[in-house]
Amino acid sequence: MRAAVFASGSGSNMQALVDRQGAGTGYRIELLVTDRRCTAEARADAHRIARQRVPFNRGSGPAGDRILELLNERRIDAVLLAGFLRLVPSSVCRAFRNRILNIHPALLPSFGGRGMHGRNVHEAVLRAGAVLSGPTIHFVNERYDEGRILAQWPVPVRSGDSPADLAARVLRVEHVLFPAAAGALARALTRGWPERGRGPSFLWPEGGDASGGKLERTIGEAFGK
Ligand code: GAR
Repeated sequence: MRAAVFASGSGSNMQALVDRQGAGTGYRIELLVTDRRCTAEARADAHRIARQRVPFNRGSGPAGDRILELLNERRIDAVLLAGFLRLVPSSVCRAFRNRILNIHPALLPSFGGRGMHGRNVHEAVLRAGAVLSGPTIHFVNERYDEGRILAQWPVPVRSGDSPADLAARVLRVEHVLFPAAAGALARALTRGWPERGRGPSFLWPEGGDASGGKLERTIGEAFGK
């Protein structure tokens, strides 16, 4: 699966995706799209991944046209949103229906929607007194954080956590879950989904099917065992 990553920030999830790409997972990152100057760009350069910054200030229509051009040029099969803070233009959602995944740092459908990204999310989780958080991977549609959920991984909230503490605990798990979910999508596309109607298999950390021991070790670490 030829994948494009869209990012706006540090790009640690893009790095995790790059580290696991290849025959084992069935995807390769061929392009980075950003909407602003960000650290993800330097990571792409370090791995010689093509990248383009797409301006959104002239509206999402022109941005969508430019993005579709880039995705077609590189023959991209799927898009992975790794800390991308813009709404994906509707033309791109339509052309890549069931082929765009987003990672969100809380258990949707709670703590999602417009303005809910990064630190805001973890602050809201702590304010609500939730005892569980954790990343969600979902398909992307025209509305923030609303597409069908593909994978989730519960992570405990500890008493005394700061937003930064919680963010760091969730992020470690994101770095395992996102490559596994991208691999599941790659396998589903190889089988001809969605044209033939069978979606990617559900992913859950205990399943161990995506990356076995490593997945279990990471969840152990996340829970402090
Ligand atoms: C990640 O925690 C990701 O889940 C979150 O932004 C961070 C990006 O970190 N995404 C959202 O909040 C989307 N609503 P990264 O740039 O180091 O991958």
